[in-house]
Amino acid sequence: MAPSGEPSGGTVHVNPYRLVGQVAEGDRFIGRAHLLRRVRATWAEPGRPANLRVLGHHRVGKTSLVRRALGTAADRPDLTAVVINVGTCASGDDMFRSMVRSVMEQLEDAPGVDGALAAIGSGVQMADGWYDLKEGVRAFFKAVRKAGRHVLLVLDEFDRAAGVAKPPDFQLLRDLASEPEFPLGLITISRRPIEVIESAEAASQAGSILGAVVINPLYVGMFTDEEADLMLARAASAGIGLASVRDEIVDRTGLHPFLLELMCNRVVQAYAETGKVDVAACYESEAIEFHAQFDRLIGNIDADTGGNGSALLRRIAAGAPGIQPSADLSRLIQMGVVSRTPEGGLSLFSREFGRHVLTLGEG
Ligand SMILES: Nc1ncnc2c1ncn2[C@@H]1O[C@H](COP(=O)(O)OP(=O)(O)O)[C@@H](O)[C@H]1O
Ligand SMILES: [Mg+2]
Repeated sequence: MAPSGEPSGGTVHVNPYRLVGQVAEGDRFIGRAHLLRRVRATWAEPGRPANLRVLGHHRVGKTSLVRRALGTAADRPDLTAVVINVGTCASGDDMFRSMVRSVMEQLEDAPGVDGALAAIGSGVQMADGWYDLKEGVRAFFKAVRKAGRHVLLVLDEFDRAAGVAKPPDFQLLRDLASEPEFPLGLITISRRPIEVIESAEAASQAGSILGAVVINPLYVGMFTDEEADLMLARAASAGIGLASVRDEIVDRTGLHPFLLELMCNRVVQAYAETGKVDVAACYESEAIEFHAQFDRLIGNIDADTGGNGSALLRRIAAGAPGIQPSADLSRLIQMGVVSRTPEGGLSLFSREFGRHVLTLGEG
């Protein structure tokens, strides 16, 4: 009988992938050097930080990337960085209140910050009525600027703003992120473009409010080959080498950060139980999770393309010739779901995803 949990001579190894699904931090965070530089560039120069929209599909590593980059924001003593998860805000008012509260918490003991700022901050918390709140927020950030401070505001899960923020909220965000009297730079993190998120709520005749000032996009997509190697190499700490089964793993997961870690986690767990590395069996046991991920991705792509996406995915999966350039195709490429092959063809990020896409076509 295999000694369970300790196949390699009595040492109990901790599964290095056990935190899969959680924000990747510390030693768990892999690569992304180029993307990290782009995020950090928003506050690299003295003065007010620049705005940035971080875009990518579910679980490709957007939150991990931005939080990792923020680790060096402390290098600028004048900069206060706050992250607000819009998904936890019940309303636009709520979003502005937590913004002010988070900034205030960090500024409490900062040099040059006095009681006046705290008073404006608590005024915002108690304001009732949109007008008082809005004026309070404006006064607060103006006072922050007077105190010689800059603010980097990260709005994570910004897709959720569609159900939370109203047109005047987008307008206030726009003012904060663009008018010269405010010391603030804004990073939004979402799957959909800001314009789409806004119009879901605004039906705005005036076009995009916030999107027009948070212009620069940063696409977060799949890992590079080297980053995938680093992910697989972590298995060494559990006494396992995954290099020989790399192709079998990547055939299912592609270079998708979450799916890679999910698969590695399962393989290491199965190894602890059986002493064997069997990727096919591991895929079987994670198939429900994989299919759920694939279906969610397809559903989101359909939502983003007015329903045309899955037909396009099917044609790519089937290797159909003569697929014409289109906005939908460009976006799939930008988001890392589709890539160009060296021969000039198109391929989906994982072969298993392609097989899944084709089975849906039959139904
Ligand atoms: N840079 C990274 N290094 C290691 N794992 C990562 C990285 N980025 C993403 N992952 C994997 O993807 C999962 C989802 O990451 P997360 O940042 O929450 O994605 P998103 O915010 O895009 O939904 C993580 O739990 C981890 O398994
Ligand atoms: Mg996230």
